[in-house]
Amino acid sequence: MMRTLKCVVVAGIVAWMGGMALQAQQASQPQAVAALTIDTGKVVAKVSPTLYGLMTEEINYSYDGGLYGELVQDRTFQSNRNDTENWVPVPQGTARGMVARDMGTGPSAAIPASLKMTVTQADAANAYGLRNRGWWGVPLRANTTYTGSVYAKGDAAGMTAGLKVSLIANQTGKVLASAKVAGLSADWKQYSFTMKTGTDVAASADNQIVVSVEHPGTVWLQLLSVFPPTYKNRANGNRVDLMEIMAAMHPQFLRFPGGNYLEGDHINERFDWKKTIGPLVDRAGHRSPWRYQSSDGMGLLEFLYWCEDLKMQPVLAVYAGYSLMQEHVNPGADLEPYVQDALDEIEYVTGDVSTKWGAERAKDGHPAAFALTYVEIGNEDWFDRSKSYDGRYTQFYKAIKAKYPKLQLISTADSQQNERGNEVKSVTPDMIDDHYYRRAEEFFKDAKHYDKADRKGPKIFVGEWATREGTPTPNMGAALGDAAWMTGMERNSDLIILSSYAPLLTNVNPQGMQWQSDLVGYDANSSYGSPSYYAQAMFASHIGTEVLGSDLQGAGDRMFYSVTRDAAKGVVYVKLVNASSAAQAVKISLAGAHDVKGTAKMISLGAATTAASNSISDPRRVVPVESTVKVGKEFTRTVPGYSIEVLEVAAQ
Ligand code: AHR
Repeated sequence: MMRTLKCVVVAGIVAWMGGMALQAQQASQPQAVAALTIDTGKVVAKVSPTLYGLMTEEINYSYDGGLYGELVQDRTFQSNRNDTENWVPVPQGTARGMVARDMGTGPSAAIPASLKMTVTQADAANAYGLRNRGWWGVPLRANTTYTGSVYAKGDAAGMTAGLKVSLIANQTGKVLASAKVAGLSADWKQYSFTMKTGTDVAASADNQIVVSVEHPGTVWLQLLSVFPPTYKNRANGNRVDLMEIMAAMHPQFLRFPGGNYLEGDHINERFDWKKTIGPLVDRAGHRSPWRYQSSDGMGLLEFLYWCEDLKMQPVLAVYAGYSLMQEHVNPGADLEPYVQDALDEIEYVTGDVSTKWGAERAKDGHPAAFALTYVEIGNEDWFDRSKSYDGRYTQFYKAIKAKYPKLQLISTADSQQNERGNEVKSVTPDMIDDHYYRRAEEFFKDAKHYDKADRKGPKIFVGEWATREGTPTPNMGAALGDAAWMTGMERNSDLIILSSYAPLLTNVNPQGMQWQSDLVGYDANSSYGSPSYYAQAMFASHIGTEVLGSDLQGAGDRMFYSVTRDAAKGVVYVKLVNASSAAQAVKISLAGAHDVKGTAKMISLGAATTAASNSISDPRRVVPVESTVKVGKEFTRTVPGYSIEVLEVAAQ
């Protein structure tokens, strides 16, 4: 399991030592001393308390095969019969039978097909089974209870046969845990069961799930599901390690459900939220624009639980009538049903139980309404060549504001792309979502992007940003680009109210990844943070409440910084980013401070090369290190090459 950032910091000291030796050489030849003057008497802006959050969508098997705890791949048997990956017959010994998708026999309107297993010969020692290899592995641990369920029915013989579900080691064929489902009837019924592994099971994903029959007969199956223990033990919940990794970033909000995933390639492949709520058997799943099927197990309420569990506020993106293959809905009467869908969605999130959709949410298990401040209308609508966004945004804006005047409505025709003619002109959006996918060098050059930006217009949401260097997860060079960019966002966080890196998650299995640089990587068994992840966690854990006046002289163009203060704690956070290979000495003056504590906590992230990175097999090569340094009203800090430092100076 991934531990908290603090534990990782300690664990990383050893890994860091090698890099330190090299950096000590660099540090011995510092450049001319630069001067950072901090005016502790001058607050130039308030820091947005919601500056750092998460952006998420179904990409890179982020939910299915990622955060969403389900261990079974294709639990609704949608893969075709030739698929050798998901459901493969595994008859033992003399067992005989056949399997086929049986159209029109499913347990619900949403899931109209089922899997028919016709077993002609089987007994306890010769079971006829089907195996599932999970999401590139089935992670099992010792002494752990796995929770399962399945919809099943049988013919007369099948009812007698019943089912067995087993967790089996691939290499040895050993059954590590199993459960029997007895007493099937002729009608669909959901059966629940648990399977507990013994104390001798080694943690491994080299396992499979087998559903089998030990008696001749015909059974029909649907929605075979197996979950490990989940974060906060939520039913239909999330992977513990990934939730812990995200928690250590102290995210203040979650932007969902996309991204492209909100829009879909086609209108009928959008995130159609009403089809993602209620019992799983009523969720058909849908095609994601990232070229695979989404189970919709991660539905609207699950996103909200995710927010609740990590104490994040939702930033709800509503479908706005544009899909990626240049399909759009004309503003006016054609768009009305989509506007109504958005109003219903907001009511599902925020309405009390006396409202239609608030009552529906209560029926789904959450009577209390969720707080909602931000609603994003669409995603990257500058791509819409029909130029219909102004009309579409305006129609949504007016309808939402009429019912929910306090909601802040975000436009997705970003301030960079407006020359393409999709800017919103008919109303003034409360906020604009800007996206930046860059090389480190571009972020270095543009770190002052918002310094002179107009403060009178809409607030800014940097809803997607990332330095795209390193794969599957960004390297140290990318972390430097990100950190340089974050110094600019912090300095301007009176304007930039929200920001979120993208994409957040990737399954590092080659078949699991569609986007080549992602913040956090994982396979079935374990997970890790990239250097960019740690840079962000460092910044977001030391955010402060106000930006102090400051000035840096003599540092060249590879040094970036931000100075904030937590007014209540009396702590000044000095963030220094040295993107050059050479050490840089910085004389830091806390002008106006009358009492500065002599030692400060320092958190550093660095490496000998920009290519240095973490990976699934070497997850802690580049991790933050915590130490203390001597400080005062004036002190000199030599920042090693390729490093990011956060100093926590107690100063009054
Ligand atoms: O983050 C990956 C994709 O990049 C998002 O889905 C989309 O909004 C952007 O183009």
